[in-house]
Amino acid sequence: MERTRWYKDKVFYQVWPRSFKDGNGDGMGDLLGVLEKLDYIKNLGCDGIWFSPIYPSPGADCGYDISDYMDIAPEFGGMEAFRKVLEGAHARDMKIVMDLVVNHTSDEHEWFQKSRQRISPYTDYYIWRPDPGNGKLPNNWDSNFEGKAWTFDEVRGEYYLHLFAVKQPDLNMDNPLVREEVKKILRFWLDLGVDGFREDVITYISKKEGLPDDHLFPIYKGMPHYNHGPHVHEYLTEFKRDVLDHYDCFTIAEAPLVQPGQALSYIREDSGQLDMMIQFQCMCADCLFTDYLPTRFHLRKMKRAFSSWQYRLKGRAWNSLYIENHDHPRIVSRYGSETFWAESAKMLAAMYLFQQGTPFIYQGQEIGMTNWRPSDPDMYEDVQTRYHYAHSNLKKSPGQRLQALWRSSRDSARTPMQWDGGENAGFTTGTPWFYVNENYRQINVASQEADSNSILNFYRKAVKLRKSLSCVRYGVYREHFPLSDKLYMYSMTGERQKILVVCSFCEKPLRYGVPKGFNLDTARLVLCNYPGPNQRVLQPYECKVYLWQ
Ligand code: GLC
Ligand code: CA
Repeated sequence: MERTRWYKDKVFYQVWPRSFKDGNGDGMGDLLGVLEKLDYIKNLGCDGIWFSPIYPSPGADCGYDISDYMDIAPEFGGMEAFRKVLEGAHARDMKIVMDLVVNHTSDEHEWFQKSRQRISPYTDYYIWRPDPGNGKLPNNWDSNFEGKAWTFDEVRGEYYLHLFAVKQPDLNMDNPLVREEVKKILRFWLDLGVDGFREDVITYISKKEGLPDDHLFPIYKGMPHYNHGPHVHEYLTEFKRDVLDHYDCFTIAEAPLVQPGQALSYIREDSGQLDMMIQFQCMCADCLFTDYLPTRFHLRKMKRAFSSWQYRLKGRAWNSLYIENHDHPRIVSRYGSETFWAESAKMLAAMYLFQQGTPFIYQGQEIGMTNWRPSDPDMYEDVQTRYHYAHSNLKKSPGQRLQALWRSSRDSARTPMQWDGGENAGFTTGTPWFYVNENYRQINVASQEADSNSILNFYRKAVKLRKSLSCVRYGVYREHFPLSDKLYMYSMTGERQKILVVCSFCEKPLRYGVPKGFNLDTARLVLCNYPGPNQRVLQPYECKVYLWQ
């Protein structure tokens, strides 16, 4: 089947379903709610949707613990609602991408239930090890969420590996039967008409033989032995050859700790097994590898991350562009400024939307939603947050520990979407499953619809502009003044067209120069986040996009 690579012209919207829109008043977001909002997403300029998991799940990791891969959870409206969403999306020329979570399942999945009882053929579907005795574990690996990576199962009398929560046992991808199951899942959704997959921590699926102890990493012990493991390319090639190549679909892989050079081994257009990668480097300008090790924001670190992906992938592979998703606190509260809230939210949009790649916008990002700051640690829902709170920073004061969560927790960006200034922010007519951010009266879709200068309308303009510029898709990226720690400036140069994107990350007015070959007198200012005449001094968090053609 000819691959059209349609994804290169798309802008995706990420729906984290439980907090997007409740369609039936039970307090939980669902697919009826999505159906109501398809036009909203389309009007933003987005023509693709990535759904975080909507399969049946006990909800230990908000849906990333799946108990049935070939169904839609009843609380989201079941298959019937999903078919309507799929039809509605396709009728609007929008694509639908599902989350494929096959590094692990829920412990309530039938496979695990049978595997723990050693019922054939499920006996080796998971990674089981005998009890080494003396209180020892099979190896020294950490889970990403809840302490050590091993839990003893009384039923089977053995330990199972879980790189995430206790309720998320890792599948044994070395077992060919498990790989056949993955292919069945892929075919099932593709035959139903979905357009592609976002593959959850897919670089973890192949563990080093013998599961050796890790003597290298101080935290996340074990990662060098399972991230980019020995057979990962082989298995991904198998999925591609046997299934994906037979459909005009696309895949985007989540890949913790990946550098552009290594990413190419997965996503090179001429030889890769996948189409795009969600890398984390761009999200680490104010932390060390994880949000739980926060640092001051370093603009140069952020610029280096964006630029290195632009330079290294050029002509070889296609970038994915994002600054928010359900795993990170809100960007305006991190790389932007809540004082210059609207200005910085718009600037951040311009900052990433004009680069080469396919952009993703996470629900609420387009209205500048900010971090949620609960008054009590018990209000957190996320398994990772709760574990972290109970086990880390124990010497700090309760206030300091809570504040650390505001900055680090995934729940900071998982509160219900703020649709209007009415009760429950218009998210539900019932009792919301989770807390609504108290600032919903100031920050909501309805008020921004009514304001032509809003963040929402800026996003609409920016996405539309992006789509009209061939130099963004085909041009050459170049960063200017890389040493500045206040300014991010880059150009995209095409054959007959070029743009210069100028972004201030400074709270004070900032003078700036332009690189040789860019004469502002002959340019058109096509996007800006400040009204009034075009000045040669940037206002706080000002951004400008200049066009020559
Ligand atoms: C990915 C998901 C995250 C989930 C984890 C385990 O990182 O994005 O939300 O908790 O994998 O599935
Ligand atoms: Ca509902």
